[in-house]
Amino acid sequence: MATATTPQQAWHPWRPLLVLLLLLGGGGGGCPAACDCTSRPRAVLCAHRRLEAVPGGLPPDTELLDLSGNRLWGLQRGMLSRLGLLQELDLSDNQLSALEPGAFLGLQSLLTLRLRGNRLRILGPGVFSGLSALTLLDLRLNQIVLFLDGAFGELGSLQQLEVGDNHLVFVAPGAFAGLAKLRSLTLERCNLSTVPGPALARLPELGALRLRDLDIGRLPAGALGGLGQLQELEIHRWPALEALEPGSLAGLNLSSLAITRCNLSAVPFQALRHLSFLRVLDLSQNPISAIPARRLSPLVRLQELRLSGAGLTSIAAHAFHGLTAFHLLDVADNALQTLEETAFPSPDKLVTLRLSGNPLTCDCRLLWLLRLRGRLDFGSSAPACAGPQHVQGKSLREFSDILPPGHFTCQPALIRKSGPRWVIAEEGRRAIFSCSGDGDPAPTVSWMRPQGAWLGRAGRVRVLEDGTLEIRSVQLRDRGPYVCVVSNVAGNDSLRTWLEVIQVEPPNGTLSDLNITVPGGPGPFFLDSRGVAMVLAVGFLPFLTSVTLCFGLIALWSKSKGRVKHHVTFDFVAPRPSGDKKSGGNRVTAKLF
Ligand SMILES: *[C@@H]1O[C@H](CO)[C@@H](O)[C@H](O)[C@H]1NC(C)=O
Ligand SMILES: *[C@@H]1O[C@H](CO)[C@@H](O)[C@H](O)[C@H]1NC(C)=O
Ligand SMILES: *[C@@H]1O[C@H](CO)[C@@H](O)[C@H](O)[C@H]1NC(C)=O
Ligand SMILES: *[C@@H]1O[C@H](CO)[C@@H](O)[C@H](O)[C@H]1NC(C)=O
Ligand SMILES: *[C@@H]1O[C@H](CO)[C@@H](O)[C@H](O)[C@H]1NC(C)=O
Ligand SMILES: *[C@@H]1O[C@H](CO)[C@@H](O)[C@H](O)[C@H]1NC(C)=O
Repeated sequence: MATATTPQQAWHPWRPLLVLLLLLGGGGGGCPAACDCTSRPRAVLCAHRRLEAVPGGLPPDTELLDLSGNRLWGLQRGMLSRLGLLQELDLSDNQLSALEPGAFLGLQSLLTLRLRGNRLRILGPGVFSGLSALTLLDLRLNQIVLFLDGAFGELGSLQQLEVGDNHLVFVAPGAFAGLAKLRSLTLERCNLSTVPGPALARLPELGALRLRDLDIGRLPAGALGGLGQLQELEIHRWPALEALEPGSLAGLNLSSLAITRCNLSAVPFQALRHLSFLRVLDLSQNPISAIPARRLSPLVRLQELRLSGAGLTSIAAHAFHGLTAFHLLDVADNALQTLEETAFPSPDKLVTLRLSGNPLTCDCRLLWLLRLRGRLDFGSSAPACAGPQHVQGKSLREFSDILPPGHFTCQPALIRKSGPRWVIAEEGRRAIFSCSGDGDPAPTVSWMRPQGAWLGRAGRVRVLEDGTLEIRSVQLRDRGPYVCVVSNVAGNDSLRTWLEVIQVEPPNGTLSDLNITVPGGPGPFFLDSRGVAMVLAVGFLPFLTSVTLCFGLIALWSKSKGRVKHHVTFDFVAPRPSGDKKSGGNRVTAKLF
């Protein structure tokens, strides 16, 4: 190695003179017979010439050497060492399976090395020796399984490394050591099952990381924590990625993040919230159905949000609240029926809006869009109306400034039908209030207590999907008025219903043990639940008769002993047969003297 590099480095200042001498003297300076040296200056083009070895007689002033699409199978040490001015070497689509250590010695000016589409399995130590100026290395479409420690150790100028389409299963923690200037790394279509975090942490200058087409289902907290300079992260096509853990992006300070064609079912707000320098967020092609209100506000510098082809059905009012620099929204090809002006902090700042491919209802909610249609950049196709029928299929651009009557209008919500205005329910039972409304757009139904909060969708008192209010296990304190409010963007209507609660007997009469004590008697007279059941089966009167008889005898006996209490009372509320709520229970009071 030393013998090959030292003389060249020593000659360096004299190289132009040497080249001149070589040219004049014709010392191997011609053009190899198989190649084309005339199309471009200082370029030797030998692509697709069925070459099995590097041709001899390459001009030493060559700057571009294209050997792609040949049958080269190996590259020996020092083979190209005379090409000290070479800047680009293309060895793509050959049959190279082994590169000898030192194969690229002497190519100290080389900037670009393409080894795509070969049969490389292993990158031995020293293969890339001498490539001190290399900035781009393309190793895609090979059969490399492992990157060992120090695999790229001598590529101190490398800025871009392409390693996709390999069989990579393992990247050693020190594999990328020495790549002090690497700015961009793409790992795609490999067999990696985890993100090689420790190896990536050795790339201090990495600015862009693309992780595409990987079968990885998880990005663990802190997995990319060592990449403090990373500006741009792309995660594309990880079908198994269903969610981002809150700490997944910890330690990063991104300005652009794309997580596309994965399986995220919601915007990962928790994982994103610390990215206050984020400007571009792309979550396209994930099954995300809604953008809720105000959750993006920690991303104060966000300018662009792309969420196309995601199955979005709603963008809440105030969805982009707090994003003062926001100017691009791409929600093309979703299931949105509308996009309300109130979603944006300042709709006038919006420059680009991609909204085509949505089933938009052209009513009063889209009037703002009509107003801004001349100024907004809708991309290649303007949004079109899917309804109402008289404007179906019409693009927003086709409407004139003066709208015919009945265009882009709404009907305020009105209560159509409701249940009784006065509902009576027994304590412990279920009460139901129905309410529904008409309007265009279809109104939402909500319920509230007059002085209280809106009633929610969960709990003992809840609003069902269809707008019905349900109170399970009614309590005395539920008594009072309830207000049904139907509302849409054009207006609201409300109706008050009163709930009256009937207090019922406490559940003393359930089948519990009955403990009758006769003072002065021979100890407690005890009836367990089986006994109670029997009494109920026999009938209360026969039972009472026999008990009365019995107590009579006992009383006589006690009296003879002188310790008399003259009566005994017992209360018995028999359980109501289920379903019969009007009977009020069977209370029997017996006084025995
Ligand atoms: C990588 O994955 C591909 C396709 O799933 C498979 O054919 C290949 O054998 C795997 N390679 C290794 C080294 O696991
Ligand atoms: C995506 O996630 C859903 C559940 O959230 C799951 O049923 C489906 O199989 C996932 N798809 C893939 C390709 O993993
Ligand atoms: C985050 O990156 C921005 C540039 O995008 C930079 O101005 C800022 O200082 C960085 N913040 C931290 C904490 O590194
Ligand atoms: C109903 O509409 C009126 C104005 O018409 C408004 O003041 C009120 O806040 C609305 N109520 C609800 C519950 O939306
Ligand atoms: C049974 O009823 C009495 C009054 O009739 C009451 O004081 C007691 O709390 C009730 N017991 C239960 C378990 O409800
Ligand atoms: C029945 O009542 C007596 C006296 O009041 C009491 O000591 C006993 O524990 C009671 N038995 C049951 C099962 O409640």
